[in-house]
Amino acid sequence: MRILGIETSCDETAVAIVSNGTKIISNVVASSVELHAKTGGIIPENAARQQTISMIPVLEETLKQAKVDPRSGDGIDAIAVTYGPGLIGSLLVGVETAKTLALLWNKPIIPVNHLLAHLYANWLEKSTEDTPQFPAVGLVVSGGHSDLVLIKDHGDVTWLGGTRDDAAGEAFDKLARLLGLGYPGGPAIARAADQYLPNATHTKHLDLFPRPLKGDRSYDFSFSGLKTAVLRYTQEFPNKSVYEVAANVQEAIVDSLIEKTLRAAINHKVKSIVLGGGVSCNIRLRMKLQGETFTNDLEAHLHVPKLEYCTDNAAVIAACAYFNQKPTPPLEVSADPELAIV
Ligand code: KG4
Ligand code: ZN
Repeated sequence: MRILGIETSCDETAVAIVSNGTKIISNVVASSVELHAKTGGIIPENAARQQTISMIPVLEETLKQAKVDPRSGDGIDAIAVTYGPGLIGSLLVGVETAKTLALLWNKPIIPVNHLLAHLYANWLEKSTEDTPQFPAVGLVVSGGHSDLVLIKDHGDVTWLGGTRDDAAGEAFDKLARLLGLGYPGGPAIARAADQYLPNATHTKHLDLFPRPLKGDRSYDFSFSGLKTAVLRYTQEFPNKSVYEVAANVQEAIVDSLIEKTLRAAINHKVKSIVLGGGVSCNIRLRMKLQGETFTNDLEAHLHVPKLEYCTDNAAVIAACAYFNQKPTPPLEVSADPELAIV
């Protein structure tokens, strides 16, 4: 089964065609990150304007690569589209395009939750041995969301916890701005941290900042206090190396994510831990979580997406739609900016 996925929830305009939820036929992403780097963050109106310009060329390129006739849509079985959460102007570009295509080609629409879709990056282009097993714990860490879920099966997802304030990616972005490291903040902080990490001989050098909610019984995260701690620290020690501060910021965020994820995996006796979202690109997070899984003698296997599928793309939308098929008449699909992961 071939699904055409469309993703426009934030600043990317993306279209992909995926076979049986796992094999990518074509995958095109137009990013407006350079536009947002100029303003130090995303201005919703700018994002949506760019998406209205990019949508048709991106769609045409995806169809061309997959040799699909744009007039008939032959070879496509369904259209999947992100209907939330996200920026309303951005979501509408994708949702209305999907509806038009569905009516033109007479195909069903499968509306997709963007947050859940991030986890389906773990099903893309993986070998059978590397396919996640259920039950699984899923950690979605993106620019706008941080959620921990228990997945008993496709379509059987329970929310365990999430951030009480800033999302993990948002914390990276805000702290990078505070440290003058640029946008997007996650990769900028990771790069700066890499300058320091080889010199950090012992982890005690990486605990300058608190791990909020550590030991708390919930599966929640909190990152807003980190901003205040880092601001105070940089005011008190203005000559401190920005690389050392960045390494400590990264460690505080990564440790908070790992603590709750591991506890959820242990308590629910899961077979897999799956990561998704832009922050799951973070190498320190991947390495430390892998290390902790071994140290804690967990039977759960850690699954991380290939780097190119961590950030926003439409292949994950098509994959999620394949495993969670809820065909909906085109005119009943509408954007929901506030949609929660479950
Ligand atoms: O999932 P995503 O592409 O977009 C949203 O749905 O929000 O995530 C973007 C977020 C940004 O906050 C960015 O700073 C963060 O992912 N990010 C990273 C890394 N690469 C991207 N955070 C930490 N380390 C990275 N290497
Ligand atoms: Zn995303």
